[in-house]
Amino acid sequence: MMNALDDPAYRLLFDNNRAWVESVQRTDPALFERLAQQQTPKYFWIGCSDSRVPANEVINLAPGEVFVHRNVANVVPQSDLNALSTLQFAVDILKVEHVLVVGHYDCSGVKTVLEGRRVGLADNWLGHVREVMDSHANQLDALADPVQRHDRLCELNALEQARNVCRTTVVQDAWSRGQHVTVHACVYGLKDGLLRDLSYSVSRAGEVYSQFDIALGRLAA
Ligand code: CO
Repeated sequence: MMNALDDPAYRLLFDNNRAWVESVQRTDPALFERLAQQQTPKYFWIGCSDSRVPANEVINLAPGEVFVHRNVANVVPQSDLNALSTLQFAVDILKVEHVLVVGHYDCSGVKTVLEGRRVGLADNWLGHVREVMDSHANQLDALADPVQRHDRLCELNALEQARNVCRTTVVQDAWSRGQHVTVHACVYGLKDGLLRDLSYSVSRAGEVYSQFDIALGRLAA
């Protein structure tokens, strides 16, 4: 059998890793020792798997500072054991203070749904985005420009998924025992690298729906 490291594309990762370790040893020599003890991230990022939206780089945080869950089109279905388990670990064990649901413009998953295309198995997963599209059909149909419509669905999806996070037993229970955790909706622009706040930041059960209406109103304004 051929040595896997003879494949340059695979080998590159190990060369890059060595170079990265060397640069960390120059800039923050205690980092690995510190991280080996424990992780104490303040932030939990729920984003799209898209390779162009790497959590740590986008918010310029070092290893250990952001806990991450990513999937196609940053969806948080209340029945998804993977997302829920990651959320529970973040909130109950790590005690993160901020949960960010981060959508992004030019999202292939969102585009697929808007264009009504089929891609395969993932169509079932993207059904969650289709539900968002259907429940905001009026707002979306009012936008004549397809780019605007796409951008709006990316924003609406981030808002809806952030609201889903708020509805989980994990977040509801944390709030009812007085734990400080705020859920936010954001959207990231591939074209300019900027993260935008969507005016949906919820830290109490009573705000989940009222803040949602306010954020929706701002989008439509
Ligand atoms: Co995407």
